Amino acid sequence: MTTFFAILFYAASAILAAGLAWKIRCFARTPAPLLIPTTPAPTTAGGVVLRMAREVVLFESLFKSNLWIWLFGWMFHAGLALVLFRHLRYFTEPVPDLVALAQPFGIYAGFAMAAGLAGLWARRFLVERIRYISTPSDHLMLALLLAIACSGLAMKFVFHTDVVAVKTFFLGLMLFDIQPLPADPLLYVHLSLVALLMIVFPISKLLHAPGIFFSPTRNQIDNPREARHLSPWAADLEAKRN
Ligand code: HEM
Repeated sequence: MTTFFAILFYAASAILAAGLAWKIRCFARTPAPLLIPTTPAPTTAGGVVLRMAREVVLFESLFKSNLWIWLFGWMFHAGLALVLFRHLRYFTEPVPDLVALAQPFGIYAGFAMAAGLAGLWARRFLVERIRYISTPSDHLMLALLLAIACSGLAMKFVFHTDVVAVKTFFLGLMLFDIQPLPADPLLYVHLSLVALLMIVFPISKLLHAPGIFFSPTRNQIDNPREARHLSPWAADLEAKRN
């Protein structure tokens, strides 16, 4: 099983890195021919950075449009961020002070993450309008994330695993020195689901994470009178015509 998981994680990391790089390249090369920032919008570059920061950290526009989705969505994402930050201890030696400091909060974050996901999933069954437009992949991503959170919490609170050995395995993996992984069924489940998440990430709706930074309605400056909006490919065309 150790060899299986070692190969699985090398493959999943390669697919995640290459897939993300490819998709981000596609996003960056997609033309934005029109100036379409959602108004009221910032009129300076600094303002756009602030707007984007508020959108990414606080989910500002979701807050204004739907409080329930905002509550569950923000709970899930903030919980996930803290959980992932807490997980850095498996990949660093010595563990940075800030990661050590976050450990106690990270546990509650696991519950916040699971509760947020449960709320978002319930909405897809209980709200008829949303149930109608929900696709199998919407359900699948929620189920996958919830299963990762539940298997993690079960390891933390019910069926403990040897976290020191888990760390030795992952530190070894990073140095191409394979160390034994504890033979623990729940750990196998947690890690298999995480690898699956890494593999499907580049072809899933979860791409909205890098995608938001390329969203013209959010990343454009509202300055049509001060500066003419001209994308590089349109400028090339114009230069050729003249
Ligand atoms: C290779 C990557 C990962 C490894 C090695 C790993 C390993 C572990 C281990 C050993 C635990 C039990 C902690 C304990 O007993 O103290 C745990 C808990 C948990 N894991 Fe993971 N995990 C990984 C990735 C993830 C990801 C990507 C997520 C979320 C999408 C996640 C979510 C959780 C949660 C919510 C818990 C319970 C709360 C906590 O202990 O922080 N894990 N994980």
